[in-house]
Amino acid sequence: MGKDVIVACDFPTKEDVLNFLDLFTDEKPFVKIGMELFYGAGPEIVREIKKRGHKIFLDLKLHDIPNTVKKSMAVLSKLDVDMTNLHAAGTVDMMKAAIEGLTRPDGTRPILIAVTQLTSTSQERMEKDLLINEPIDKVVMHYAKNAAEAGLDGVVCSPLEAEKVHATCGKEFITVTPGVRFADGDKGDQVRVMTPEQAKIIGSDYIVVGRPITAADDPVAAYRRCVKEFID
Ligand code: C5P
Repeated sequence: MGKDVIVACDFPTKEDVLNFLDLFTDEKPFVKIGMELFYGAGPEIVREIKKRGHKIFLDLKLHDIPNTVKKSMAVLSKLDVDMTNLHAAGTVDMMKAAIEGLTRPDGTRPILIAVTQLTSTSQERMEKDLLINEPIDKVVMHYAKNAAEAGLDGVVCSPLEAEKVHATCGKEFITVTPGVRFADGDKGDQVRVMTPEQAKIIGSDYIVVGRPITAADDPVAAYRRCVKEFID
């Protein structure tokens, strides 16, 4: 399974993201496109970035009735993205329907991962707003197990949860971890962070890195440093 650094391209417009990717002449980073860019620039932005030779993680976090998710996933699959995701809270049936929709006639499909509990959800809000009265790490592992049961490839999780997810769902079950910062870098609004090197040690499969690369004085050098620390 490919270990890789995924660059979170959280830019508001097509021009901004393409100008950023133009900086990379020798390598083609795996890029994450989120809701802001996708809803603003439309599916064309995916085709454009694919045409330039990048792998794409389309981070749209689908959550709807199984039939709607199945049909929407079929559309995303035709866009030829390499990885996409959904909310495990949509149930095992929704996740199974997503895989059906994503699977192409030749049997191939993009990697599908689940969001468990968002890292922005606290224990307190989960209990009060969602009426889930279990420890949050137990909920995260339960959702990860549901994702595995539905046939998904892995989960998005905090680097601090990656080891436990692998212990619960198996080594082959992919962990995609944001919240990565260089040891000498600015944490920004992220609270629980890890360096690329620590993420490698705890067995993260893919790290998602945004501002440490996109806001660096030299984004290409920052990307190379990330790859060196995480993979080499
Ligand atoms: O700039 P930064 O490295 O913090 O970007 C991290 C990326 O990962 C952003 O696109 C953010 O939305 C996403 N993400 C996150 N934490 C999660 C899930 C996604 O930071 N729990």
